[in-house]
Amino acid sequence: MEEHIKIFDTTLRDGEQTPGVNFTFDERLKIAKPLENWGVDVIEAGFPASSLGSFKSVKAIAKALTTTAVCGLARCKKTDIDTVYEATKDATKPQVHVFIATSPIHLEHKLKMTQEEVIASINEHVSYAKELFEVVQFSPEDATRTEIPFLIKCVQTAVDASATIINIPDTVGFSYPTEYGLIFKKLKESIHSDNQIIFSAHCHDDLGMAVSNSLAAIEGGARRIEGTVNGIGERAGNAALQEVALALYVRKDHYCIESKINLKQTKKISDLISRYAGIRVPRNKAIVGQNAFSHESGIHQDSILKHRETYVIMTPQLVGVGTTELPLGKLSGKHAFSEKLKALGYDISTKDQVALFKQFKEVADKKKDVSDRDIHAIIHGTEHEQSAIYQVENLQLQYVSKDVQSAVVVVKDNEGQIYQDSSIGTGSIVAIYNAVDRIFKKHTELIDYRIESVTEGRSTCSAHY
Ligand code: KIV
Ligand code: ZN
Repeated sequence: MEEHIKIFDTTLRDGEQTPGVNFTFDERLKIAKPLENWGVDVIEAGFPASSLGSFKSVKAIAKALTTTAVCGLARCKKTDIDTVYEATKDATKPQVHVFIATSPIHLEHKLKMTQEEVIASINEHVSYAKELFEVVQFSPEDATRTEIPFLIKCVQTAVDASATIINIPDTVGFSYPTEYGLIFKKLKESIHSDNQIIFSAHCHDDLGMAVSNSLAAIEGGARRIEGTVNGIGERAGNAALQEVALALYVRKDHYCIESKINLKQTKKISDLISRYAGIRVPRNKAIVGQNAFSHESGIHQDSILKHRETYVIMTPQLVGVGTTELPLGKLSGKHAFSEKLKALGYDISTKDQVALFKQFKEVADKKKDVSDRDIHAIIHGTEHEQSAIYQVENLQLQYVSKDVQSAVVVVKDNEGQIYQDSSIGTGSIVAIYNAVDRIFKKHTELIDYRIESVTEGRSTCSAHY
């Protein structure tokens, strides 16, 4: 099989260590299968010894997946390793990930162990894991703050005890690309084994370098990258796998090795994780952000229309995003406006477009983005799309019983007319929208709903429908 960069997805383990994220059992299963379809090689499904919930979901995922390896995390403790064995034994390809911290600061303050004790523990627990698993991965936690000679000693011990995957975690996101890449180079030169050893990178994003560090690891000889979808994870998160996969694809001229990620499903998996984690992807996030394929500047829009590659290094279709957006705004020029008219199916003479373009500019001065509906309105001589036709004037919620809430909703339209009604529902949101349905005598579809804390202890809620 052609060599490829293996992708180890830890969205369900390190990703779930994101403050505020807690996937339910069902969500974990609903995430695991799409991850397999996305093409990751290994899924770290959880830390089974940490809770019964984690154990049960790792077990269910192990049973559900058919091609992807399923891995569980274990401390250097036989009971942890046994629990991973129990949880993953039904997997097509079970794996265990054994770790212990190796940096001086962790040894002194966290483990209170000497270096000799750590070496003995690695030998004992990796050897034990090898009795139960064909594939054993070992991680020296906080590797990037471990002195290189001791790091080499730890890794050689793990390899001698039959670990075949060595993961080098930048646990606190402290390293930088050249330094991190050199650690892999050094390890590859120093570690000896009769087995083929795969070196793996695991980066945190505290300094915003997780993806760059992962790519530098590949240059240093790593052949497996650990990370999460959307880069969720402990503190600032982990390396965003979609960025690693796309960098390898778009810059294959440089890396000369790719992953087996099914790039077309990237946006879909990103949306899924965003929804279940309850974490919005920033608009400007590479590849999966709403703006990732939008070109706002008039100069850019004009150039793209003349020759796409002037400002486009990858198509949105490559990652499963429907179309390239050339959003019309106040910076858009005549060329982009004219193309938009064509795309919307209008055949308007250049002469007539002059007046329409003037009107468009007036609207664009008032609104940040000019939507397709605004364009239709300009052409048909109606008002441009209003940002809000109705506003909530008053809202009262009442707890009726465990499963029944009631809502009184008062809305005002932009001519000052008041409408009101009340309803009940199984929760307060359902009650509110039932009341809204009664006001408008229509079924409203809730498209987006958010509760955001403005300051500690106070919340605002925004909904679009
Ligand atoms: O960041 C880290 O060190 C980890 C280990 C458990 C590998 O997540
Ligand atoms: Zn981590």
